[in-house]
Amino acid sequence: MKTIFVVRLFLTLLFTTVALSAQDQGVSSPAPSNGVAASAVASVSPAPVVAASTNPVSSPCPQGMVCPHDEKMVLPSDIHPTLKSYCSVPVDGPYIAMSFDDGPSATLTPRLLDLLKQRGIKVTFFVIGQNVEHAPEIVARAAAEGHEIGNHTWDHPVLTKLSDARVQEEINKTSEAIFSATGKKPVLLRPPYGAMNPRVHRIVDQDGMKVILWSVDPNDWKRPGSAVVERRILAGAKPGAIILSHDIHPGTIEAMPATLDALLAKGYKFVTVSELIAMESQHSKATTTTPASSTAPTTKK
Ligand code: NI
Repeated sequence: MKTIFVVRLFLTLLFTTVALSAQDQGVSSPAPSNGVAASAVASVSPAPVVAASTNPVSSPCPQGMVCPHDEKMVLPSDIHPTLKSYCSVPVDGPYIAMSFDDGPSATLTPRLLDLLKQRGIKVTFFVIGQNVEHAPEIVARAAAEGHEIGNHTWDHPVLTKLSDARVQEEINKTSEAIFSATGKKPVLLRPPYGAMNPRVHRIVDQDGMKVILWSVDPNDWKRPGSAVVERRILAGAKPGAIILSHDIHPGTIEAMPATLDALLAKGYKFVTVSELIAMESQHSKATTTTPASSTAPTTKK
């Protein structure tokens, strides 16, 4: 009898521990795009599995680096003076770049494309290669309608944890899938989770691509509801902003009509990320005063 009690007590404790542990993982999972990427794949095809377990970076800026929301982010000059990532771009006019990650979604991305078309708005899609492979016609449509297609890796890994060869493979496979869908090679890369370091950055640079982060994150992957997504985007929008969101969540798509209309009403003009960056050089030529901020990224986590 006593033995049975002890065994039951042990099992109870064991189950409780397991349950708490599972709950922890669910709640505290810091990966913005983790579940996102997995559901993106699920919505397009049940076959591939996107990396969903490792997830080190929740900050919009990699490795705890400062992301000055009004300036181009620069890696520490004592490490690599030439490596630049973009969180936002200093521009002279009311220009912003909306970006949508982790797609294409077979159902939601076409709906978003319709909304954008109705308003004459161009955005940037950072697509996952294996999703492109399963829905190339959607990516082709987006490109044909004037949107920019950027590389968001093949299966959404943490690039900084991969070997050079694997990083290159993630980039190449995705760029090839985009090329075969659109006839154009992407020139932008958004690293999953914003995870970036000088080693990976150099590989991206050698591929002739720019590293794109963001300055506004509505955390739409947590599915807070369309009203919250809208409010957060409107609160963060300012000239030169690069706005992050995901075209694989119904709430995000539902938020878009009101969000886009409100931004238009405020006078914002939508451009692709590459167009925004091109405006930066014009801006720099015009002002020439302040070089890109050398705001030293902090080393703290
Ligand atoms: Ni992502």
